[in-house]
Amino acid sequence: MDTIHIRGNRRLNGVIPISGAKNAALPLMIAALLTDETLKLTNVPRLTDVRTLAKLLGVLGTDVQRGETAHGDTLALTTPEIVSTLAPYEIVSQIRATFWVLGPLLARCRTAKVSLPGGCAIGARPVDLYLKGLQKMGAEIDLVEGYVLAKAPNGLKGAVIRSPIVSVGATHTLLMAATLADGETVLENAAREPEITDLARCLVAMGAKIEGIGTSTLRIEGVERLHGATHNVVADRIEAGTYAIAAAMTGGEVTLDGVDAETFDAALSVLRAAGAGVDASQGQVRIFRNGERLQATDVVTQVFPGFPTDLQAQFMALMTTAEGESEITETIFENRFMHVQELARFGANISLHGDKALVHGVDKLTAAPVMASDLRASAALVIAALAAEGETTINRVYHLDRGFDRMEEKLSACGAEIWRAKA
Ligand code: UD1
Repeated sequence: MDTIHIRGNRRLNGVIPISGAKNAALPLMIAALLTDETLKLTNVPRLTDVRTLAKLLGVLGTDVQRGETAHGDTLALTTPEIVSTLAPYEIVSQIRATFWVLGPLLARCRTAKVSLPGGCAIGARPVDLYLKGLQKMGAEIDLVEGYVLAKAPNGLKGAVIRSPIVSVGATHTLLMAATLADGETVLENAAREPEITDLARCLVAMGAKIEGIGTSTLRIEGVERLHGATHNVVADRIEAGTYAIAAAMTGGEVTLDGVDAETFDAALSVLRAAGAGVDASQGQVRIFRNGERLQATDVVTQVFPGFPTDLQAQFMALMTTAEGESEITETIFENRFMHVQELARFGANISLHGDKALVHGVDKLTAAPVMASDLRASAALVIAALAAEGETTINRVYHLDRGFDRMEEKLSACGAEIWRAKA
């Protein structure tokens, strides 16, 4: 397995181009199952998760043509017909989002057999909300040998579905299913993350009828068929937030290019409160810190527009050297503190109390060999390593490759000493 090496204690200075969002690209690719015409996506990030999903779509009948541009890849996805409605364990266990094919398969073919998902080990992550929603739309669901067997012999019907908790994946899945259902579906307490908005806009470009985009109530009037479209993937607010935190951690000045501040405003507010400089303009965000030590700041993870759980680990890395004690509360996933013991290897002082982590700022971090445990936790280790004295080795970097497009290249261009050793 590859390892990443970082010689730390250097400021970052420069411009970082922000890639298309992984969490938007994946559902957008899945939307290609809803039509027999071509869905063309631009600004697709180069990630192993994208390649894994493309493999699954290929099995289901999608022809995927990939092109490269300076601003990410383009994908032309065409599904003349669904040749298989089986999403196998071998692929679905690798990325949780592949489970979302359940909605389009059921809508287009009235039947689907999809393995229960895998993905980052950050909690129990059940799928009850997806299944209850589809049942309300008339699907019959059985669980057999680790697979969800879903059938809607008479097609999916519009329904009012109120989710007891906000789920990104259930919203994506039910939204896609509802576009081809008979009648109106109302998704109440829907997720309104920017990636949901991006999917909804793409579906509208494909001919779907959706109202309430960007709000927590989505009204979808089912149509007979969807057609092809071209769609540019929204910028990755989690990648942008990660580099914003890296800039605040190391000092210096970094401009994040191609991302709108509104999509990660909660993170930028917390960075300002901690003492980092933040300037936002159209499509760019500048982060700077020169000399002054950051102040400990509390955060609570929340659904959008709150502070994202996907930046919790990175923010914890930042707080390890802030002045004072920071309380970090994780409300979305019950087991998302696996990075704590790895951060301790750099000399961080963190104690865990249920859903809270108390971070007592230390004067400095020192390099250590560490192990990436999940996608966003790996980014936290990179951030700690960039500030630590000495050379850090990060093992299990395949987690980073799942979700960060050319991270070493982007950080090196800003003066980081970071390199990859091939296995
Ligand atoms: C998505 C994101 C992930 C992010 C998360 C929360 C993608 C590919 N992944 O994951 O990066 O961390 O949103 O912003 O976009 N839940 C249930 N039952 C369900 C579904 C969810 O109890 O049927 C719970 C989950 O266990 C979790 C909470 O709801 O505690 C939120 O999960 P959800 O929003 O569904 O996350 P994902 O879609 O898996």
